[in-house]
Parts: sequence; structure tokens; C-alpha cells
Amino acid sequence: MAAIGKDILLSAKLLSEGKLVAIPTETVYGLAANALDPIAVAKIFEVKNRPFFDPLILHTYSLEKAMEYVNDFPEPLKILAKTFWPGPLTILLPKKNNIPDLVTSGLQNVAVRVPNHPMTLALLQKINFPLAAPSANPFGYISPTESSHVEKQLGKCIEYILDGGVCKVGLESTIVGIENNGVCIYRFGGLTVGEIESFVGKLEIKINKSDNPNAPGQLKNHYSPIKPLLIGNIETLMEENKSKKIGVLWFGKISEKIKNSLNINLSEEGNLAEAAANLFSALRKLDESDCEIIICSHMPKTGLGLAINDRLERASVI
Ligand code: TXA
Ligand code: MG
Repeated sequence: MAAIGKDILLSAKLLSEGKLVAIPTETVYGLAANALDPIAVAKIFEVKNRPFFDPLILHTYSLEKAMEYVNDFPEPLKILAKTFWPGPLTILLPKKNNIPDLVTSGLQNVAVRVPNHPMTLALLQKINFPLAAPSANPFGYISPTESSHVEKQLGKCIEYILDGGVCKVGLESTIVGIENNGVCIYRFGGLTVGEIESFVGKLEIKINKSDNPNAPGQLKNHYSPIKPLLIGNIETLMEENKSKKIGVLWFGKISEKIKNSLNINLSEEGNLAEAAANLFSALRKLDESDCEIIICSHMPKTGLGLAINDRLERASVI
């Protein structure tokens, strides 16, 4: 089993030896390897059971350092990096040859981000290579927001879990890039469209949802609990499924009808940031409970609600 601890030097040593270490970030836990070592990177795909066509995000500690791995940094994207790094923003940029093709699944662009977690930033400064890190969950399952989530699912396959507590944002990073001089968004995430648009103007939304995505990693079915997840009007869904044991994912002030059922409230105050932070651990708890199905409704279609709805929809495809 993987050891869990707060030893940054040990993490640096293991990573330098080509081993895998789970790292905390503000979004979700990552499963990290030396990005410049293709053999180490290959282990990530093996442990996660992840298809090789799904590229990995490169993590480093500063904009200056990121420049060592990319050929160009268009001005609008640089403004975003200066404004939001470290933070939940991933930027697609043309890669230099020092980045192995395995990291980008053979694509010309590499996805780069500076995560906002003090332990992982300290770790990145101690090593002389960037880290390739997808979320530290088996491919297709719910992303981990606590070290215990990682241990439960991948503990047998990795050396060490660097414990940085509960992830504050709780949703993966927002992914942006540039096409024909316009900034595009490819994945809704922990940074909202509004926050980004206030610096670079209107974004083109290029969110892909298909079984055969041309924008990699945007599979229709992802982030899924094992139990079926249904989205809709909660009271209607409860009525339609009354023969089954139901787990309700609720948002806002709890209604009398729900009070006595098995439920988890993402945010009693109706706060979307709180709901985002609680989403994946709530889904896990319901998945591990004795309910047979999980039901929820859509979040308000604004701010972080867009990213939460995206995750719920992908999780609900059976
Ligand atoms: O918040 C996050 O981004 C977390 C933490 C650990 O940093 N990481 C994460 O990685 O969510 P992952 O592997 O679960 O999602 C990475 C996604 C891919 O599935 C793909 O959609 C996109 O990032 N991506 C990565 N590299 C890309 C590339 N070169 N071109 C297009 N999309 C890319
Ligand atoms: Mg993932």
C-alpha cells in the first residue's frame, strides 16, 4: 500500500527515480510522474487504465518556467496566466520538443498549468522537471478530492500520497486555448467563464461531448459513480423510482419531502463554490452507501454551476 504523508523531499526523491506520487492541488488530487521521462509517464496510463489518446496536463511552478516547455505564448493567454496562475486554469500551447509525445498523445499542443497548493508548489520547485499529472482516479471514475480517496482506489499501485488535505476548489481546472486569435474554452472547471471573459473578452465555447471526441479527454461518459445517476426534477424522480432505495444529491435549503430520505446537501446556502468543493466527495459517499440509484437536479446555469452541470451530465450517462 502507498504511504500517506507530508514529506515533500521524499516525494521529490521518488519522482526523480521515475516513480508515481499522488499530489494535492486546489482542484483535485493528481497522479504525478516526471513529465520528461516517457517510461515514468507510461506508468500513469497503466495505473489509471487510461487510453493513450487522452493527453496529460503538465504542471510547473511559474509562468517563466512554463516558457521552457512551449514555443509560443500568445498575448491573451499570457494575460490569463499572469492573472490566474497559480490557480485552476490550464492553457493549451504549442509544445517544445523536450516534452515527450506520450504526454500530449502526439498532439502539437501541451496543456500547462501552475497549481495553487503550497506543498505541490514547494515540490515543483525542488525538482528539475515538470510533472505530468491527470486526476488520481481510475479512468472514468469520480475524481479524488482527499488523500483517502486516492488511497482507496490507487493505493496498491503507487508509492506515496502527498497529503495536502481536502482540495479547496473540488473541480478540475478550466481549459483554454486560442484559435484564429480568439480565446476558446475546452473544459468548464474551477475558474468561471465570467472571470476569464473579464480579462480577454468573449470566449468561444468548444466543449465536446461525444463517444469519439476529437478534442481529447472530453468523453461523454466520465466522472461516473458505479450506481446510476439520474438528473431531473427530484420529486418526479423520487416518485418514478419509489421502489428503489434512493440517494439524493441536494442543493440549497432542504425541502420537507427530502429531509427523511438519504441525502447529501452540496450547499445549504445555495453557494456554488461550496457545492463544487463538495461535489465529488458527496458522489463518492452516495456511491458507497446502500442506495441503489443517485438522483439530483441541475445547478443554476451560471458561474461554477456550468462546470458542476458538466460533471453531473457526464456522470449520468449509463
Ligand atoms: O485540475 C486539473 O486539471 C487536474 C489536476 C490534477 O491538475 N488534472 C486533470 O487532469 O483534470 P485530467 O487528466 O483528468 O484531464 C486532462 C484533460 C484531458 O482529458 C484533455 O481534455 C485535456 O486535459 N488535455 C490535456 N492535454 C491536452 C492537449 N495537449 N490537447 C488538448 N486537450 C488536452
Ligand atoms: Mg480526470
